Amino acid sequence: MAITISVFNNKGGVGKTTYLYHVSHLIEKMGKRVLMVDCDSQCNLTAYCMRDAAINKSWSKDGNSIWRQIEPIYQGLGDFRRRQPTAFDKNYPNLYLIPGDLLLSDFEDHLGDTWNPAKGGSEPALRAQTAIFRFISWASDHVNADVVMIDLGPNLGSLNRAVLGASDYFIVPMAPDLFSIRGTENLGSKLVLWNKEWQQCNDAYKAENIQLPPAKPIFLGYVLQHHNIRDNPRGMTKGWQQYGDKVEEAVQKNIVEKLADVGQTQHSSTQCYMLGRIPNLHSLIPYSMTARKPVFDCKSADGLKGNCSPLINRRVEDQQACWAVAGLRAVLMASRADRPRRRPGAMTEPAAA
Ligand SMILES: Nc1ncnc2c1ncn2[C@@H]1O[C@H](COP(=O)(O)OP(=O)(O)OP(=O)(O)O)[C@@H](O)[C@H]1O
Ligand SMILES: [Mg+2]
Repeated sequence: MAITISVFNNKGGVGKTTYLYHVSHLIEKMGKRVLMVDCDSQCNLTAYCMRDAAINKSWSKDGNSIWRQIEPIYQGLGDFRRRQPTAFDKNYPNLYLIPGDLLLSDFEDHLGDTWNPAKGGSEPALRAQTAIFRFISWASDHVNADVVMIDLGPNLGSLNRAVLGASDYFIVPMAPDLFSIRGTENLGSKLVLWNKEWQQCNDAYKAENIQLPPAKPIFLGYVLQHHNIRDNPRGMTKGWQQYGDKVEEAVQKNIVEKLADVGQTQHSSTQCYMLGRIPNLHSLIPYSMTARKPVFDCKSADGLKGNCSPLINRRVEDQQACWAVAGLRAVLMASRADRPRRRPGAMTEPAAA
């Protein structure tokens, strides 16, 4: 069974999608089978991986976007479909994507409407709340994934509640700034509330026709992103250091302490929850987007040469190391930890493709 990791922060634009994209490629390079899932209706991850024609195909009636897979549940016409994920890059044959879909926002409304009945144990409501969890479980088994990486939108809405409930672990990318620090206050409290509400669902649902997730995603740590690099011990300019130094304290107080009470932290020998730092890569990122390749795979033919600052240019190789430290450390921590145990229940026969 695969490890499922969500990349999540209610603060927008902190680099969640960029981080997930790069780390997923690195894990595949290590010889693992990786399934990426775009659960953000902005579909940024999908646009990073696939060209427009392929995206439109995945959104078509016979397509394999996340929305097309769960559409029958939304329509009340059956359970999820079984359409296989996309292998989108021949250079990464063991990297798969379940494309995102703009229509996922409609499903989010449905999740909001069915949350109270789900907490009362209603099976149709729980079928909707667990649709993404049950579909991803099927898809990851289908491609024999070792790791599932899920990209989420920047909010504390019902879709993210459902997807985090479906995750074993989560990682929080953060910028070392005031807004990210303030954002941790909402994040920790909301996750504690969701934990309790999912527990209500579990307690109220007496039958075993559908499988409910344990809904206790464990916090693996945070990744600091977007700062300007300097060759000093903290690796960042003085301006960014003002907040960079305060992030760990805010994470400990607002996330770790709160989640420890509900069993959603890891017992780790290290007290520091920072998994790594990804500096501001400036124009390397748009080049990588245009080439639809990770930064560390881009060559001068992709437009890199002479267009980036000398410091960044010298460090193209180092970028792989940055992402490797942050991402692989998280995956290794996750694979060593005790996995949350899933409540038994039958996987309902999905609707025909
Ligand atoms: N390390 C980096 N260096 C420079 N630019 C970056 C870096 N990481 C991300 N970006 C840029 O910052 C912007 C936001 O990144 P990204 O879309 O990955 O954030 P996000 O947290 O997923 O956003 P959202 O909350 O909207 O989903 C994008 O334009 C992206 O290209
Ligand atoms: Mg994003």
